[in-house]
Amino acid sequence: MSSLTDARSTEQYRRALELLPGGVNSPVRAMRAIGRNPLFIARGEGAELIDVDGNRLIDYVCSWGPLIHGHAHPAVLAAIADAAAKGTSFGAPTPGETDLAYEVTRRFESVEMLRMTSSGTEASMTAIRLARAATGREHVLKFAGSYHGHVDGLLAQAGSGLATQSLPASPGVPQSAAAATVLASWNDLDALDAACERFELAAILAEPLPANMGLVPPREGFLEALRERAGQTGALLVLDEVISGFRVARGGAQERSGVGADLTIMGKVLGGGLPAAALGGRTELMRMLAPAGDVYQAGTLSGNPLAVAAGLATLELLDEPAYARLSASTERLADGLRDAAAEAERPVQIVSAPGLLTVFFSERPVGDFAAAQACDLDAYARWCRELLSRGVYPPPSQFETWFPSLAHAPEQIDRTVEAAAAAFAAMREVASGARA
Ligand SMILES: Cc1ncc(COP(=O)(O)O)c(C=O)c1O
Repeated sequence: MSSLTDARSTEQYRRALELLPGGVNSPVRAMRAIGRNPLFIARGEGAELIDVDGNRLIDYVCSWGPLIHGHAHPAVLAAIADAAAKGTSFGAPTPGETDLAYEVTRRFESVEMLRMTSSGTEASMTAIRLARAATGREHVLKFAGSYHGHVDGLLAQAGSGLATQSLPASPGVPQSAAAATVLASWNDLDALDAACERFELAAILAEPLPANMGLVPPREGFLEALRERAGQTGALLVLDEVISGFRVARGGAQERSGVGADLTIMGKVLGGGLPAAALGGRTELMRMLAPAGDVYQAGTLSGNPLAVAAGLATLELLDEPAYARLSASTERLADGLRDAAAEAERPVQIVSAPGLLTVFFSERPVGDFAAAQACDLDAYARWCRELLSRGVYPPPSQFETWFPSLAHAPEQIDRTVEAAAAAFAAMREVASGARA
């Protein structure tokens, strides 16, 4: 009989609710989408989380992507400790920042210079400001279901029609901020063309491997079309590799697809579990940023020495054999989950790329946000609760991606698949019980 004791988490949650809105510092952590309270974490070890009640869970969130080597990797901890012993922040340049920039330029062919920030949101904001400054235009095209941080203008939802100016997706976002965002459906060439015809775009902004509506890869030729339309219309192609960068290959989704960006947004793995993100691109564009140029951007903790050290240690471990291992273990997980679902006659779509995976509760392949939204969200929620009670910690939303890491051993992946099979079976029992 599987179980999850959560008395201490419940107590912590009660306390947090009094002091933090919704009891958390970022909404998805609250686990509302799967209909339960959050687990409070005491520590992490490799691929596993240990919560405050002592439950040990195989972690597929991994801090939402940064922890590609799992929790508390000794080399990353040593690099942080070493840096911390010398001082935590100077507000002045350090050699590590240039070392990290050099490492990134070696991995991303399209990146010649880098500006570091503390979060992906800031890097997105800067990318848009720079694209507008470089083109003298205002409109930015983004795709429904993609996420680029909580930037006002990018918290936009669809208006009516094929490719439209957007409406604010949150109270507090001014109409004017959303109106400069043009929204199109992912993988939809007609919508892309309509947007390019109707608006003078400063930027076409895309996750080259979208992972914020679940994992929805581009259809054949779609990224190439983005590159081509950007070139034809004078827009900049801004690729957001905050999730895919350093994960799906050394040089991210750009290396895998061969489609290079004018500007690249990076984060997560780049900071090795500490707050670091960056914007990168060609020299002539990047030199528009202050103080080399007049496009203003700044940050008290940008290029923080601890984050830089964690990032460098993380990237140092990411050689070709590491990517081959990550790819193999993700496939092992995907194959196992596929078999488990088939055995339980549960119609799901399992989509994966190295270090990324989504189980869509859908009978049909998912190619855009509308299809992701049409998934059986209640079934996904139920399955996640069953997984938690069997020692597996999945992303608590159908629209978030699983992050298997290099710390996930074959034995842990096989245990995950066993738990998933049992979870599918438990759902079938309840469904047939309800029919009886
Ligand atoms: C693709 C993408 N871009 C940007 C961001 C924003 O990054 P941050 O949360 O560091 O602000 C995220 C966050 O999940 C993301 O997934």
